[in-house]
Amino acid sequence: MAEKDTTPARYAVMGNPVAHSKSPVIHKQFAHQFGHDIEYTALWVDLDGFPEAVQQFRADGGKGLNVTVPFKLEAFSLADSLSDRARLAGAVNTLRFEPDGKIFGDNTDGTGLVHDLTKNLNVPLRDRKILVLGAGGAARGVLGPLIKQHPALLMIANRTVSKAQELARAFAHFGKVEACGYDDLVGKRFDVVINGTSASLKGEVPPLPVNLFTNNAVAYDMMYGDKPTAFLEWAMLHGAATAADGLGMLVEQAAESYLLWRGARPETRQVIAALRKGG
Ligand code: ATR
Repeated sequence: MAEKDTTPARYAVMGNPVAHSKSPVIHKQFAHQFGHDIEYTALWVDLDGFPEAVQQFRADGGKGLNVTVPFKLEAFSLADSLSDRARLAGAVNTLRFEPDGKIFGDNTDGTGLVHDLTKNLNVPLRDRKILVLGAGGAARGVLGPLIKQHPALLMIANRTVSKAQELARAFAHFGKVEACGYDDLVGKRFDVVINGTSASLKGEVPPLPVNLFTNNAVAYDMMYGDKPTAFLEWAMLHGAATAADGLGMLVEQAAESYLLWRGARPETRQVIAALRKGG
């Protein structure tokens, strides 16, 4: 009889920078829930060395990867086949190495955001007016899953209006998607406002008009940190009923990746709670 393979299944997140990634802690907690034996590490990858690093990881027996900044577009190009949501996002955050040697690329970011909003925060999106701030990779990555929730309107606002317009055109056949600049938001109100700009990284807030929120509106920042982001602070001062950072989205996108690799979706609430406590 062949000996049982007792080596843990290997996964990792590749990025640059990646040292502060919470993904290893999250995935270890997921594996613990199921009694799965996995190894999950954070791998710093040279800016021009992504394809080689992926091949090496795979040659060393790796089963799947998460991919973070700035490699999501390269991961998209590297994949032999793509999920619909990865194709829509134009970027890949999860790679799975198939037994036949092919690489499957998925994007779990948008589904992670929708799960966090609808399941963890109990925010229904159907028939709601949603505003997405930003038109870069982060914003693009969540548009497909948001539209699938059938909002009354999905508005994309960006500093460079032409980029918002391009995105609105790309997604127009999936639902009611519009684009505008920040000045055009005066007089409009939204039920859910999602910050997908990188302004929070610099402690900045996009130039938003006051009276942006309806009663009971939710402000969501895809970024997270130890303190509320500048956008969330602004939102609470300007009438948002709820402010949530992107920690829940991070854990939910990880759970979707875990499902893709291992066929089981972990419980997320206790993992989010543990991370909030610093664990
Ligand atoms: P990411 O991959 O994080 O989305 P990106 O593709 O560089 O990064 O996009 C950054 C987004 O944040 C863009 O929408 C950018 O607006 P522009 O397209 O007009 O550059 C937006 N952004 C960055 N800093 C901002 C700020 N201080 N105020 C408003 N928008 C900002």
